[in-house]
Amino acid sequence: MATKPSTVIAIYPGSFDPITNGHLDLIERGSKLFDRLIVSILCNDEKEPLFSLEERVEMLREVLRRFPNVEVGHFEGLLVDYAATRGATVLLRGIRAISDYEKELQMALMNRRLRPDIETLFLMAGEAHSFISSRIVKEVFRLGGNVAGLVPPSVEARLHKRLHTVTTGNHKHSD
Ligand code: PNS
Repeated sequence: MATKPSTVIAIYPGSFDPITNGHLDLIERGSKLFDRLIVSILCNDEKEPLFSLEERVEMLREVLRRFPNVEVGHFEGLLVDYAATRGATVLLRGIRAISDYEKELQMALMNRRLRPDIETLFLMAGEAHSFISSRIVKEVFRLGGNVAGLVPPSVEARLHKRLHTVTTGNHKHSD
């Protein structure tokens, strides 16, 4: 019979482009459930990210500094293989709405097939965060909408800086 490891390590994987207050809520709650929580950024995703891997690592470190048992990592390839190399037995994921369920079920079943010793655990997103995604935050921000309260203040500042750089760059090109 399998025994419970003395230290339970969980991986919270994602793109985090950028981290939102929805992610942060899940990390805070997850940090109380596991001995160690490794927030892990997927590199080499097919999606073109707004922030580089290095920027995302920096942003996560800034925001997560206050959680002593939370660390930041990154991975490429199969998530379950990375989890195994980090000694993790749990994958933590959040579910916002029913629309998340199908993709999450597919990933959880595939991950279990690949490595049955690693469990995926789901937390329901806090109701205040159930509509937030990195994609929608970026879209609203790009179109001039207010994203205060949706992302940590340091991330909001980086979004402003990034948009300014992009705008300035565009001006240079059109001059
Ligand atoms: O924040 P996201 O984009 O919803 O995160 C998706 C993520 C990173 C959890 C998922 O794309 C992933 O695990 N990718 C690694 C590749 C992998 O292991 N694929 C097989 C299982 S689905």
